[in-house]
Order: sequence, then structure tokens, then C-alpha cells
Amino acid sequence: MTSIRLASVHKTYPDGTSALRGVDLHVPEGSAFGLIGPSGAGKSTVARLVEGLERPTSGEVRVGDVDLAKLDEASLVAQRRRIGVVFQHFNLLAQRDVARNVALPLELAGVPRADRDARVAELLALVGLDGLAHRFPAQLSGGQKQRVGIARALAAKPSLLVLDEATSALDPTTAANIVELLAELRKKSPITMLVITHQLEVVRALCTHVAVLEHGLVRESGLVSELRAELLPGGGAHGRGRNELLFSEAS
Ligand SMILES: Nc1ncnc2c1ncn2[C@@H]1O[C@H](COP(=O)(O)OP(=O)(O)OP(=O)(O)O)[C@@H](O)[C@H]1O
Ligand SMILES: [Mg+2]
Repeated sequence: MTSIRLASVHKTYPDGTSALRGVDLHVPEGSAFGLIGPSGAGKSTVARLVEGLERPTSGEVRVGDVDLAKLDEASLVAQRRRIGVVFQHFNLLAQRDVARNVALPLELAGVPRADRDARVAELLALVGLDGLAHRFPAQLSGGQKQRVGIARALAAKPSLLVLDEATSALDPTTAANIVELLAELRKKSPITMLVITHQLEVVRALCTHVAVLEHGLVRESGLVSELRAELLPGGGAHGRGRNELLFSEAS
């Protein structure tokens, strides 16, 4: 398990786009932290900073005890291996079967063949894909592809999982099944999840915490258990208006 801390983070891309304008965020160890907000708010930028794929223009990004700015390139590569990443469009390798897609991070980490095979079998069982080890991505449904993506992300036993719109390319039923799988994974082993989504139902079903990012700033944040009642299941409020708050002003 790993916490994440962003302190006064600004990110301006080389073309001058100001994506983050002073973001403070604390993702507690073991939480499932939902990050929501409109398109262009800076959600994926936060993910890329946490993954060490981008560096902040100013401010501090800490993952666990590590201040990412203090790492050289080699340490950053090692740090990235400790984070599992799940993508919206799965990013599977078409020429590798399911087992070899899942095995990829283990190959890169130099895990011996026998250990790799055992770990892959364990992971496929965990995500409900036993029997499909030798299918190729083109022979899988979207939901099955995302199960492969999740198994691959978990292969190296990361303490942090970053999911950027992991269920957004799936139909609602399949998305709900994937969310259920992620919730089960959290019960089985403690892992911190940063869950980027535009689906409030994902936050309700999976997350412990949620923050709303707008125009590169955290607009509000809090515990999912403290979300306004009408936003909770059975509350009847579906499409949340852009200017509506998740939490009551009082809380
Ligand atoms: N590599 C880049 N170079 C320049 N601008 C970028 C780059 N990546 C993102 N941006 C800009 O930064 C802002 C934030 O983008 P980001 O991808 O973080 O948003 P997002 O919240 O993930 O949006 P979405 O919900 O559409 O995925 C946007 O204005 C975007 O156009
Ligand atoms: Mg994005």
C-alpha cells in the first residue's frame, strides 16, 4: 500500500497549456480514491505525474516515501515498475496471447520462467480468465481484454494501481462487472487505487474517497460516505449538473 501526495502542483506543457494550477491532493494508503471532473480538467495529467511519466513544472509529487523529483531516470524506471497502470483502451500487445501479455512486466523485471508461469496462472484465476491463457486479444470481448489489463497491472505485485477511465470503453453491464472485480481485489489484498473516471456510479461502487478536479484545480474532496444523500444509490439523482456540488456546503 502506498499513499500519494501532491503539494502545490503546477503543470504547464511545453506549448503553454496550463493543465494543473496548484493542486493539493492526499490519497491515503489503502484508499480507493476517485478523481472526477470534466474533460480537460487535468485528471490524466495527475495520473502521468504520479506514474513519473511527466514532471511537475513546480510543486511536489510524492508516492509513498518517495519524492519523485529526487529520482534520476534509472530510479524513476524502477519506481514505475512498482505502480500498476490500467488503461481505457487496454493497450494489449496484439501478437502476444493472454498469458504472455500478463507475463510482460515479469519478463521485464527478469523473473525466471517457472515463477512467471505460476504467477500468470494465479493472476488469470484472480481475474476470472482461467482457460483463456492462449487466446489472442483479437479473440476477446472488451471486458475480457480489461481483465487481462488488470492482471498485467497486478503482475509485479504493485502497492498502487492507477486506473485512467478503465471502464469508460465498456458497456454499462461489463463496466459494472469490472468494478465488482476491482472491489473484490481490494478486499483480498490491500492496495491503493487512484481511480480516474467520469462515471459517478464507479465512485459510489468502488471508492472510499473522491475529489473533483476542474480547470486544473481541486474544487472539492471528501469521503464517499459523506456524499450528499441524493447522489447515493437509490437517491434518484442521475446526471449530476456541472455546477452541482458532491458534498453539501456545510460538510
Ligand atoms: N502533452 C500535452 N501537451 C499539451 N497539452 C496537453 C498535453 N496533455 C494534455 N494537455 C492539455 O492539458 C489539459 C488537461 O489534459 P488532461 O489530459 O490531463 O485532461 P483530462 O481531465 O484527463 O481530460 P479527459 O477527461 O478528456 O481525459 C487539457 O487542456 C489538454 O489539452
Ligand atoms: Mg484523461
